[in-house]
Order: sequence, then structure tokens, then C-alpha cells
Amino acid sequence: MEMKTRTIASVLISVLVVCSLSCAAELLRRFQHAPKADGSLSFLVLGDWGRRGAFNQSQVALQMGIIGEKLDIDFVISTGDNFYDNGLTGIDDPNFEDSFTKIYTAPSLQKQWYNVLGNHDYRGDVEAQLSPVLRELDAKWLCLRSFIVDTEIAELFFVDTTPFVDKYFTHPEDAVYDWSGILPRNHYLSNLLNDLDSALKESTAKWKIVIGHHTIRSAGYHGETKELVTQLLPILLENNVDLYMNGHDHCLEHISSPDSPLQFVTSGGGSKAWKGEASLYNPSEMKLYYDGQGFMSVQITERQVDIAFYDIFGNVLHKWATSNQLYPTITM
Ligand SMILES: *[C@@H]1O[C@H](CO)[C@@H](O)[C@H](O)[C@H]1NC(C)=O
Repeated sequence: MEMKTRTIASVLISVLVVCSLSCAAELLRRFQHAPKADGSLSFLVLGDWGRRGAFNQSQVALQMGIIGEKLDIDFVISTGDNFYDNGLTGIDDPNFEDSFTKIYTAPSLQKQWYNVLGNHDYRGDVEAQLSPVLRELDAKWLCLRSFIVDTEIAELFFVDTTPFVDKYFTHPEDAVYDWSGILPRNHYLSNLLNDLDSALKESTAKWKIVIGHHTIRSAGYHGETKELVTQLLPILLENNVDLYMNGHDHCLEHISSPDSPLQFVTSGGGSKAWKGEASLYNPSEMKLYYDGQGFMSVQITERQVDIAFYDIFGNVLHKWATSNQLYPTITM
């Protein structure tokens, strides 16, 4: 009898310990970022960039500085692949300053950067990019695996998409990925999806935006990420997400959904681009496909979201606005 009670008690204790450990470890961290005094918000979105200025990275940075000032941006979002080819080697890797601090020097870009990780970042020391030491080197840097930025008017959900992709585990080829902190993988992914789903359900923000490195819809070289189409997309649709923003394909792209207000935007033109490979896509859904370098801006008010894409000369390639989830309108 005593034996049995003790066994039950120890099972209960271990269940509690496991739950509290995993719950505490996986909960999405929240950051508050106040909007402007009039309640509006504007920011730039950049992806696939860190190449010590090469492949037009510096030209993109220059135009970001100009547009950033014009729009009086509140912050910058990076959709990942922050440092090529293999992330950072450690917190003392000079690539951090050579590809970030010394490149994005415009005054308007000295705002908070919210960064996610891309597959190339996972080929280096992941913990280094997440380390607070980098924020001491450059205060605008902030990178986490998955997190939430609450701006009152819009809630931004950053999702760590690299661990979803099967081939990095089954066919890594010559790449070595840093999976520390991810394993067991199924546990990591299901916790992340559960937490994201709950956070989206609890959100009362007018606009919901999800950011990840990998594509969901894309006509680019990599195309759609099937793991995200099956596992992440249903959660976005169920929770009325307005925008999914990603990088990975080195292009600028805007694809709409045939049957929902959800818009798919790719901002992966931070440096090396011009892959020259695009697959055919339904022209009624494909609003922009630009296979060169550039970046994107987002402006949000209570009534409207405006997005625009820019090339390395600062020319607007495409603009789009929605003022009502049910009746999106194309403005250019
Ligand atoms: C830089 O941008 C220009 C203009 O879009 C383009 O013609 C050129 O090929 C780009 N250079 C590289 C190295 O991608």
C-alpha cells in the first residue's frame, strides 16, 4: 500500500516537473513595442542579407535608410538568413559587425531590429545569434527563435521555421546544422504550433502578422515549403492572420489567397538574388514577382495596411493596401 502511494506520488511529481520544464521553456516570449502617438505603425522587412555588403547588400541598406526616414519607421524585421554562408561562428565572429553594424548605418535604421533565424543561421552557432552579448555590441539587434511583438494595433508572431523542414534532418548534404535546443524535434514543433495557436486565439489586435524564414506560397527557386503548408498554414487560416511574411527565396514577391484575406509576402532580396528561376503561378494570385534585390515596407493604421516593395534604387515595384479584410484592393 505504502509502496503504491509512493509510486503514484513519484509519477505525479515527474509529470509536474516535465510539464513545468517544457511549458516554461517553450512559452513564446512577448515584447511590447508601443505604436506612434496616433496609434499607427510602420516598419521595413528585409531578408537573406548578411554578405559583408556584397551582392548589392550595401545598396539595399542605403535605400532602406532613405525609405526608413521617409516613413518614420518604428522598427525593422529580418526574415532570417542573417549571416552567410554559415551563420555566426560565435559571439566574437567579425561577420556580425561586417554584415550588420557596418552596413545598416543610416540614422533611421538605428531602431529595434526583430530577427528570426534562417536555415543558413542554423549552420552556425545558433546560441551566438540569440546571445545578449550581441545586443551589447549593437543595441538594435534582437534575435530569438520564436516570439511575439505586441504593438497594440498589430500583433506580430515570429516563428522558427527551419526545424520544420524534413530535408535538413534527412539529407543535410554537406551542411552541419546546430540542432541543440531543438531536440526532440516533434516535441519542439508541436509545442511551438500549440503555443502559436493559443497566442493567435487570445490576440485581440486588429491586425495579425506572422513572420518566418521559410516560404508558404512562392514561385521562387525554393518554392513552397510543404511542411509549412501542411502544419502552419491551417493555423494561420483558422485564426484570420492578415499577412505571412518570409524570406528564403531571394526575391520580392506578393501572392494572395484565392479563398481568404491572407496575403503571402516574400522579402528575401537583402543581398544575393537574380536566381532567374520562377515557376508558373496563377496570375490572379501572383501580384508581384521580382527576382532582384530590395526590401519591403509595411504601414499600419486602425483602418488600413499598406505594403510596398522597393528595388535597390528606391523605386517602388509594387504597392498593395487592404482597408477591410473582406475587400482587399490593389492600388498599383
Ligand atoms: C545589383 O543591382 C543591379 C540593379 O538591379 C543589377 O543589375 C546587378 O546585377 C546587381 N548586382 C549583383 C551582384 O547582384
